[in-house]
Amino acid sequence: MTAAHPSRIPGAGPASRGHMAPSGTRNRIAVMHGVNLDQLGRRPAGHYGTLTLMQLEGRIAGFADELGLTVQFFQTNHEGAFVEELHRLEDTVDGLLLNPGAWTHYSWAIRDALEIAGLPAVEVHLSDVASREPWRQLSVIGDLCVATVAGSGPDGYRDALVRLRDALGTMSA
Ligand code: DQA
Repeated sequence: MTAAHPSRIPGAGPASRGHMAPSGTRNRIAVMHGVNLDQLGRRPAGHYGTLTLMQLEGRIAGFADELGLTVQFFQTNHEGAFVEELHRLEDTVDGLLLNPGAWTHYSWAIRDALEIAGLPAVEVHLSDVASREPWRQLSVIGDLCVATVAGSGPDGYRDALVRLRDALGTMSA
């Protein structure tokens, strides 16, 4: 088994989500969750709510469907695996929705990999990182992203997808 554990909605490959989009439409989104996000459901509910990662991904897939986007999911607790996934995605998706978890605040390696990927990205956090501990208030990827959405729980992923869709200039369904 490899260190990376891509998580997908059962039966929903990248091509099978979302409404039909005109050819040439850039609507393929990779949703990447980082360290400890696989533990959602057993983390402090006041910050992260009660959904498991699988349930959260289900919500995100629903938002994507509604917005005419296709999504694929990935989660790992291994920084190098996250970096390598970013290296691989350039030709297979059009944009990135990233919640790197705690790596957000200090992983210069992930920042560099995001720069290499060269894809439009939106940073998203379940919790309101700006009003938490000072160390959570720094994002090393924020300035590479077209937007940051934080503190809106699962619904923030919908906002993030809208921001990404707008940045990609895709047509809504
Ligand atoms: C998080 C915020 C991070 O500070 C934290 O380390 C996480 C989750 C969020 O979604 O609110 O693991 O990214």
